[in-house]
Amino acid sequence: MKTIRAMRVHQGVPGALEDMLLDDLAAGEVVIEAHYSGVNYKDALAVTGRGRILRRFPLVAGVDVSGVVVESADARYTPGDEVLVTGCGLGESHDGGYAETVRVPAGWVVPLPSGLSLFDAMALGTAGFTAALAIDRLEQNGLQTGQGPVIVSGASGGVGSIAIDLLAGQGHEVVALSRKRDALDYLAALGAAEVIDTGLVAAETRPLEEARWAAAIDNVGGEVLAWLTRTVKPWGSIAGIGLAGGHELHATVMPFILRGVSLLGITSANCPMERRLKIWTRLVTDLKPRHLDRIVAGTVTLDELSDTAEEILSGQHRGRYVVRLR
Ligand SMILES: NC(=O)c1ccc[n+]([C@@H]2O[C@H](COP(=O)([O-])OP(=O)(O)OC[C@H]3O[C@@H](n4cnc5c(N)ncnc54)[C@H](OP(=O)(O)O)[C@@H]3O)[C@@H](O)[C@H]2O)c1
Repeated sequence: MKTIRAMRVHQGVPGALEDMLLDDLAAGEVVIEAHYSGVNYKDALAVTGRGRILRRFPLVAGVDVSGVVVESADARYTPGDEVLVTGCGLGESHDGGYAETVRVPAGWVVPLPSGLSLFDAMALGTAGFTAALAIDRLEQNGLQTGQGPVIVSGASGGVGSIAIDLLAGQGHEVVALSRKRDALDYLAALGAAEVIDTGLVAAETRPLEEARWAAAIDNVGGEVLAWLTRTVKPWGSIAGIGLAGGHELHATVMPFILRGVSLLGITSANCPMERRLKIWTRLVTDLKPRHLDRIVAGTVTLDELSDTAEEILSGQHRGRYVVRLR
């Protein structure tokens, strides 16, 4: 039986490359010859052994994968089909995408949307899917162009970069909130009309500050999310995605009861399949990114994954890394 190279994590230690057999992988109806994955914040935590991401051990990490079906016990898929999987438990409770071969339940598989390459599917990955899901939810809650600026925090990261690209493509005036003073040109090239420094957050602490954002996409959590509640316009919404800066939220009810502000929770991993398919379709039609080449910071191999994960956790990177699996 052919061996499969995989980044596997044992409890209490960082992930390492191992040779595995197909029978070693978690069960599923669809076997995929894996081509690409990506490196999300969650993956960086899992690979380095930091953060409680993995729910069983040992486990192959990687919450995303794109590739070609080689075996399927489910009639919806046949060998040769190009597919992708993001979230659903992949790389968290089920052996994940950092392997040459991936085996998953058929219900998790998304046919590769027409017009998207296997590489670009992972340049987007969970980050792109989540950015689009957030925009979809903001729109459902009333966001339209012309209502004012939309702010994106954690702007230079994976979700942030793609969110800026997608929002600007929709005609929104986008404001990027970033800690990186040297990322101005990068963020402007993605479509940000203005870049503001996170230093402002500490200076505006009243329960209600000047209301200026029609909506917000937040990847940082903590003090940044609390500040967004204080500065979003009446009837505006915040899509709460991440916790790169902290998981706690110290806020008052004032923005909610005096301005009608909405805080919308965004969870990509367990997004129902009908909505999942809708979001992937939007990513190749009206929410198609315009600057994915610029957002891809580089392509790495499984051997380079540990160093990439450290770089991501240090918060120094820009955009997304794609992982080449063969
Ligand atoms: N809810 C969901 O379904 C879902 C899906 C995907 C991701 N997420 C979460 O969303 C967040 C972003 O994910 P990602 O993959 O885009 O991560 P990422 O590429 O690491 O980007 C995070 C960005 O946040 C900022 N940041 C990092 N550390 C920070 C700190 N200590 N304080 C303040 N800002 C900090 C940095 O941007 P600047 O330097 O530009 O400020 C960084 O580039 C993560 O928390 C991730 O777990 C959630």
